[in-house]
Amino acid sequence: MTLAPLARLVVLVSGYGSNLQAILDACASGELAAQVVAVIANKADAFGLERGRRAGIPAIYLPPAVCAGLPDSRRRYDTLLAEVVAGFRPDWVVLAGWMRLLSMAFLSRFPNRVVNLHPALPGAFPGTHAIERAFAAFQEGAIRETGVMVHLVPDEGVDDGPVLACETVPIYPTDTLADLEARIHAVEHRLLVATLRWLVTGDR
Ligand code: GAR
Repeated sequence: MTLAPLARLVVLVSGYGSNLQAILDACASGELAAQVVAVIANKADAFGLERGRRAGIPAIYLPPAVCAGLPDSRRRYDTLLAEVVAGFRPDWVVLAGWMRLLSMAFLSRFPNRVVNLHPALPGAFPGTHAIERAFAAFQEGAIRETGVMVHLVPDEGVDDGPVLACETVPIYPTDTLADLEARIHAVEHRLLVATLRWLVTGDR
């Protein structure tokens, strides 16, 4: 019997990296037949870098400032980022709290291979602070529930693209924002790992 090689994941982060940690833990336990081959951040203080280092994985800070002031700086940065990512030969590029828009200069290098996590239902609250905005919308009576989605990133649409998985998350009148954040993050950690498991094995 030959064992299939582990899927290679490059994870892009901008912050705390709790979703990266969920992936690392699932890889370590065997729940996910994959290995994180690199963690890359656009922020020097992203704790996700430390999580990668602790796991013995290359953890690279790639500052957007390297291209600042140059003509077409976003495209240049994304081209450089794509070079670095491609060097790790990923099967999947996972945006786990990556809070920077990626242009086609990056995305065209990895067609159908970039997966994004967003803490809202499809079409709702794209961009930053989605949980806070959902919480405020609930207080105003505009929504009754929120959710989490994992989707492919085919183009420059913000938190938009073919949905791989989504799950609704209830909001209760007694919730504080911290309560809702904790509930959403718990769902994210589970849904992201389950979706990656499906992508790498084909089993849903
Ligand atoms: C997560 O809630 C993720 O869904 C969100 O950033 C957080 C990162 O948390 N991403 C977006 O809002 C993308 N628009 P983490 O750093 O603890 O994994």
